[in-house]
Amino acid sequence: MSRRAPSDNREVDPRVDGWMRRAVAMAAASHPHPNPRVGAVVLNPEGDEVSAAFHEGPGNPHAEVLALRAAGDAATGSTVVTTLEPCSHHGRTPPCTEALIAAGVARVIVGATDPDEKVSGSGIAKLRAAGIEVISEVIEGEVIAADPGYFHHRRTGRPRFRIKLAATLDGQIAASDGTSQWITSEAAREDAHQLRAAADAVVVGAGTLRADDPLLDVRLDSFSGRQPQPVVIVGDRPLPEDRRLYDRDPIIYAPRPMAGKPGCEIVVAAGPGGVDLAAVAKDLADRGMLEVLVDGGPTLATSFINGGLADEITLYFGAKLAVGSGLPMLTGPFATLADAAAVEIVEVAKLGTDIRIDAKPRIDSSAQGGAA
Ligand SMILES: NC(=O)c1ccc[n+]([C@@H]2O[C@H](COP(=O)([O-])OP(=O)(O)OC[C@H]3O[C@@H](n4cnc5c(N)ncnc54)[C@H](OP(=O)(O)O)[C@@H]3O)[C@@H](O)[C@H]2O)c1
Repeated sequence: MSRRAPSDNREVDPRVDGWMRRAVAMAAASHPHPNPRVGAVVLNPEGDEVSAAFHEGPGNPHAEVLALRAAGDAATGSTVVTTLEPCSHHGRTPPCTEALIAAGVARVIVGATDPDEKVSGSGIAKLRAAGIEVISEVIEGEVIAADPGYFHHRRTGRPRFRIKLAATLDGQIAASDGTSQWITSEAAREDAHQLRAAADAVVVGAGTLRADDPLLDVRLDSFSGRQPQPVVIVGDRPLPEDRRLYDRDPIIYAPRPMAGKPGCEIVVAAGPGGVDLAAVAKDLADRGMLEVLVDGGPTLATSFINGGLADEITLYFGAKLAVGSGLPMLTGPFATLADAAAVEIVEVAKLGTDIRIDAKPRIDSSAQGGAA
């Protein structure tokens, strides 16, 4: 079966997608934020793997350089498959384009062009100018899906926010007395911990801090990575005393200066409804947070959605019926059906006894309002 390069429609080796999937698997297993997840594979002229590597984070060598080093002399005349366009500028490490040219590679296969303005096509141009064959945009969608926060951060200047809520099948996230642990089963909660593991920061509002005394850490036996940065959004009411989270050095955004707790950093950002979430987004982006999980209650989730900051919404529905009204998933008035925001359902999965639904707000104007 023939395969054409997405970049220039030339016929290329039909194995390119499989090679790229191997590099994507290397990248997906890493968490080098604020740097991008990058996987690289060196292939001999027959297309067999010689070496593979991923980037471990700031200050460490890039994936292409590690893979070239591991390949040694076999790098000469090889094909290098890399999920992200090689960098062409001097950062904390020298440009990967120089390493690839110096190694004498014959061909470079690139998953996605780097949206960072310091690269943005110049890496590919330098390789081509040096006489190296480049095939680009190979399964680009899968490459971006393995590190959506990086691409989102570089394109929009803010982190990618995922709103997560867990509810009974009839949409209640807590009972009237504030109890919500545990609405979902262990399988769903373990899945939710995977969302935390992928995140650079986990955010809750003060309501959740008061009610649940959460730790916001990843509690999975298999997890050995960096714990996400805890973040709290507080309003006018005072911070609660003695929360376990204070030992995890949270960043606390408040509408006005307030007395903190030892280890907590207070950042003032006043806005409508309490804290200005757009300012929070900017500050988190400046701190190198690319992927942020909003793991609080309905008040904060509603503010993120209304502020146009919800990039993905993950809803877990436990196999329970509240049969009554406690706390709904989102707050505020719902006067008429035309006010409902249209979403795109991305995925529906059954997790043990429960259901997980992933949805994205629709941003095209025709999607505003309810469907007939
Ligand atoms: N099932 C679930 O998925 C889940 C998850 C988390 C929590 N919960 C439950 O949710 C309940 C708490 O609900 P909640 O709505 O109070 O929690 P929340 O959304 O986590 O916190 C809301 C609070 O955040 C502060 N805030 C400051 N600026 C804000 C802004 N711009 N937008 C929104 N909030 C801002 C306000 O604090 P001030 O009060 O200081 O003004 C506000 O009251 C508890 O019963 C908890 O168990 C359930």
